Amino acid sequence: MGIVGVEHDHQWLEVSFGDGTAASFLGTWLRDNIPAGRHRGGGQRTFDINSMPEVTLAGASHDTDSVTVSFDPEGLDAMFDEAWLRHHDPTRTTTTGVNPPPTLWTSDLQGSLEFVDFEALVADSRQLRGWLVGLRDYGFGLVENVPTTPGSITRVVDLFGYLRQTNYGNLFEVRDEPDPANLANTRLGIGMHTDNPYRDPVPGLQLLHCLVNVSNGGDSQLCDGFTVAERLRSEDSAAFELLSSQPVRFRFLDEGSTDLQAIVPLIQLDTAGQVVEIRYNSRSIQEFAMPPDVMAGYYRAYRVFGEMLHDPRARIDFRLDPGQLMVFDNQRVLHGRSAYEQGERHLQGCYADKDALHSRIRVLDAA
Ligand code: OGA
Ligand code: ZN
Repeated sequence: MGIVGVEHDHQWLEVSFGDGTAASFLGTWLRDNIPAGRHRGGGQRTFDINSMPEVTLAGASHDTDSVTVSFDPEGLDAMFDEAWLRHHDPTRTTTTGVNPPPTLWTSDLQGSLEFVDFEALVADSRQLRGWLVGLRDYGFGLVENVPTTPGSITRVVDLFGYLRQTNYGNLFEVRDEPDPANLANTRLGIGMHTDNPYRDPVPGLQLLHCLVNVSNGGDSQLCDGFTVAERLRSEDSAAFELLSSQPVRFRFLDEGSTDLQAIVPLIQLDTAGQVVEIRYNSRSIQEFAMPPDVMAGYYRAYRVFGEMLHDPRARIDFRLDPGQLMVFDNQRVLHGRSAYEQGERHLQGCYADKDALHSRIRVLDAA
């Protein structure tokens, strides 16, 4: 195809390609991105914007594969490849949506739940990629045949990222205990929630691995908080508006050692209005502090959201048996468990971050 023409004024370079397309590049942008300004190792830029002179375009020439540009006042020449110019054409590439949009789900997903064999994930990078993409897009993933020796959960983390240590340690235990400080360590049911909303940043991923389950209950539940937030947005926009704008406080206090606090709206939006995070946890949300004209409306909105999050049509239910493990996006997918009265149940849990998961998928895609 090749480059068939270049034109420029002081500010802009226009490049015409053999396929009839053209692209415009700002001189400053070109100077900022000169090949010689990148380190040969990892391609990192070697200078800051403030050390770059203000430039004008003094000249431009081309052959089929490249354009050479001269910058004033430096008298600097730089060559840009056709492929590079096409790939980085600033009007065609975007910096939004570094990951694909989430695949939203409801209880309809119940029929297609699938636990993937742990050893298959370890041994087969194609299977691993498929499972990681599912985790990214659906916000959860299920594994079976993870060894029930305590600590094996970290081998699942090793498949995609790094353990996130917290004040609870590297791993935490979820089992009935004699004098529990946390609902986790009782046989009580736990309503839908995200973990650790009092942390900044919130752990992006949570893993729960079943070591023992001979209880007469203790089923696991997951709910896509993004689906529910979109339902709220379409059915009760006033409630959505309040929950996505009014901050509330979360806190975890362990006298003498820990006092974690965060103040955020329950539904967090990005600058385009897309839902990017849900925090919801009745155990750690604090007394609301808001003006009288907001309080009653906020309670109404909070109740409506809470009802939607606990609607059976919004969730999937399953039992984790020994060796089974779930991973979920703790900023999107809420989890809960049903009560049990008898028998033993022991899960190990831990946290990880999502950035390494996304990185792992890109590396597998590039392989
Ligand atoms: C928790 C929790 C899940 C379970 O303690 O926060 O979500 O299945 N436990 O016991
Ligand atoms: Zn939890």
